[in-house]
Order: sequence, then C-alpha cells, then structure tokens
Amino acid sequence: MPLATDLESHFAAHQSRARDELFELLRIPSVSARSEHNADTARAADWVAESMRKIGLTAKVHPTKGHPVVVGEWRKAPKGAQMVLVYGHYDVQPAEPLELWHSPPFEPTVRNGNIYARGSVDDKGQLFLHIKAIEAHLTARGKLPVNLIVLAEGEEEVGSENLAEFIQAHAKELACDAVVISDSSMFAPGLPSILSSLRGLAYFQIEVQGPASDLHSGIYGGAVMNPAMALARILATMHDANGHIAIEGFYDDVRDWGDAARKEMRTLPFDDTHFRDETGAPALFGEKGYSTLERLWMRPTCEVNGLLSGYTGEGAKTVLPANAMAKVSCRLVPDQSPDKIDTLMRAHVARVTPPGVKVTIEQLHGGMPWRANLDGPLFDAARRALAAAFDREPVITGEGGSIPVVGDFQRILKAPVLLVGFGLPGENAHAPNEWMSEENYFKGMRAMAALWDELGSSS
Ligand code: BES
Ligand code: MN
Ligand code: MN
Repeated sequence: MPLATDLESHFAAHQSRARDELFELLRIPSVSARSEHNADTARAADWVAESMRKIGLTAKVHPTKGHPVVVGEWRKAPKGAQMVLVYGHYDVQPAEPLELWHSPPFEPTVRNGNIYARGSVDDKGQLFLHIKAIEAHLTARGKLPVNLIVLAEGEEEVGSENLAEFIQAHAKELACDAVVISDSSMFAPGLPSILSSLRGLAYFQIEVQGPASDLHSGIYGGAVMNPAMALARILATMHDANGHIAIEGFYDDVRDWGDAARKEMRTLPFDDTHFRDETGAPALFGEKGYSTLERLWMRPTCEVNGLLSGYTGEGAKTVLPANAMAKVSCRLVPDQSPDKIDTLMRAHVARVTPPGVKVTIEQLHGGMPWRANLDGPLFDAARRALAAAFDREPVITGEGGSIPVVGDFQRILKAPVLLVGFGLPGENAHAPNEWMSEENYFKGMRAMAALWDELGSSS
C-alpha cells in the first residue's frame, strides 16, 4: 500500500522547512564527550524538546548525572491503540580532525544530494525525521493512530552511562508495546533494511608502568624492561596468525547462527572489492574461515583503538619510556557479555605480561550484544511501511556497531525493538565529512509515518 495521500501531500508541501529545521539542530555542536560543549549539549536538548512541543507533544527535559534525557509524549490515540517508544540521540561525536572537513562540521551543507554535517546521520537526522513523521499525522489529521513516547538522549556517544538507570526509574511512564530506533544504516542505496543484530562492546584501557620516569636508553637500555615493548608483546598475543582471538575462553559463549542465517546473508548484494575500496585498505583481513559479513556481524573482535608511549615528536630522542598505554575494544556477539570478557581479558593479560612492569586494566564501556527474533506484527508492519516509502521490499541485515541501550530496553521494558536505519554505506559516521542522504531523510519520514498507520490498523 502506498503512503496515505494526506500524509504524502503534507510531506511534499513542507519539504524545505523540514530541511531548514534539521539544519538548526545540526548547527548546535552537542559533542557529549567534551565538557567545553556542555552548554551546547544542553541547548540541543532544549531545542529537541521545543521541536516536540511545536508539533503538539508534551515534552520534558530530565536532568541526569550527565547530559539530559528529553521525553516527549502523545497519549490520545483511541482506546486499545498501541504505545510505541521512539529512541534516538541528539549528542554527536567530536568533529576533529577539523582540517579534513570540506565544509565546517557544524554548518550543514548539501552537496550531491547529501547533507554534510557532524551528526547529520548519527543521529540527529534520523531522530528528527521521526519528529517530522509525527508532525505529518498531527497536522494533516489532528491525531495519531498510536500513542507515542519519543526519548532522546545526550550520552549515546559516550556509552549511555546514565540511561539504563533512567529507564529503570521511569519504567512505568515508559511502558510500551514496541521500541523503534533509527540509528543505523541501510544495506545499500534504495534498499530499505531491518536490523536483526548488533554487536556488544567491552572497551578497555591497558596501562603498563615501568621505571619511575623516562630513562636514557643508552645508560639504562638493556637492563630494564621497556614498557612499550612489554605492551607490544601483550597486544601481539591477542590473536593468532589466522585472525582468531587467542584469549582463553573468549569464544565459549559465542552462539552459532546456524546455516539458515548464513545462507540469508549470502543473498545480500555484497562485494568484497567494493567494500575494500570503501575502507581504502590495501587488502581485507579477518578471521580465517569466515566471509566479510560473517566477520562483521556474527564474529567478535579484539582491536587496538589507540596507542601511546615514548617520544613521538620530530627527530630522534633516545629514551626508554616510563609507561605505555593502549585502548583496546572487543566487539561482542550473542551470548558474550562484557563482564565475562572483562574477567577473561584480565586473566589473559596477567598471564602474558613480561616481568619487570606493572599492568593495570580499566573497563571504560560495556554493552550487551543483541539479536532479534523478527517475527510478529511489529516487524510485518515495518516491512510494509518501508516498502511503501522506498518502493522496494526491505532486507534483513546485521550490524557490527553497538547501541548499548537496545538490550536495556528489551530487559527493562520487555518490549520488542525494531531497528530501521536510514544511513548509507560510506556515510562517514564518526569521521570527517559525515553525511546523510537527503532522499533517505525524506523517505525515512514517509516510512515512519506509514509505520504509524500500519500499527494503527493492525491493533
Ligand atoms: N549509531 C551508532 C551505532 C551504529 C553504528 C549502528 C553503525 C549501526 C551501524 C552509535 O551512535 C555508536 O556510534 N555507538 C557506539 C557505542 C559506544 C560509544 C558505546 C559504537 O558502536 O562504537
Ligand atoms: Mn548513533
Ligand atoms: Mn555514533
């Protein structure tokens, strides 16, 4: 079924305003990781709450220990209608390195049909398209076929530290029949996608302490363990030559997805060469015996995200560094858990640490992996709504990234979670020149407006 004509005419008539309003939000540098942007992050929360009020929701900005949570509501649907919770985040990643942006990160610019700005696709554009979809219903008809809660958080990019507690404390007000999230990507342009899995995360900081201060590498070198070498040796034990993680017990809880899931993955239009070109790496590499999509979606990883030690300035400085540090993150798959991986990581590092240094490990973030059972009326409605907006049947895809709150929603609110994202491959999320396709921004609105109609008529 195509999108209802009254909604379609609303979208057609208000397209340029929908773009201009998103641009206002994109101009606010709500970088959650940086305290110098705290006032901007608070301003983005207020802006989002105000945008909800303008279209007829009631909205409240809830302070937390960190950045505020915005909750908007509309509860006037006919008796028996479903309650749906839409989640998104208004915070963004830092924009650095600034010199690599072709237009300023907080001055949205359209080039080749794409909106370039930090947060355009992750996640402001995808959050705001939901607000526009709700607006279409309330403007064209004065009502919605479902009850809605829109929850926008400001700490997703720093690990959603305070959100589980917030959901727990407000579980009664947030009670719902379904959760809908747009914070991911479509598998290919024009190909709407429903996510069936996300990886989890266990993020560590590993510090190696050697001598009390940097030492002359001639006077002391050879007689003291070098922390940089010790760290390199520790990190080098984490994989074998086949890309298999060598931490004892690491794979114990990894669930096999079965042949059916693997077969379904092979039907997706995916090309290794194209994917390699997207990365710019000279060749692809990963765990032996698995395809690229299997490596990305159903296998865990252990990656160095950052390394720091010794002298890295111009020229040579003969120094034996006092310490070394690595940021190491593991992407997890069902049924691994960050707590168990924490234990295994500590035991492994303790076992392989060479004598003469002290190692400390801290876990910075944890998030559970997630895999959906895509049966039921919510997913059928989503398939029809996406088909209506994109004129093409959606595919089921997996995802290598993490949205830690998904597991919390399911656990605390006991509602199924639908992940429908409108990003695209190559969108540069977290990188310079992030973009969101304008077409997807506008079609995403239509798909979500159609979803409310589908869920209204199926209840
Ligand atoms: N929107 C992403 C998650 C994502 C990435 C979904 C790619 C689908 C495809 C989210 O904003 C994000 O970046 N999550 C972090 C979580 C971390 C900060 C705890 C991630 O995956 O690194
Ligand atoms: Mn995101
Ligand atoms: Mn992100």
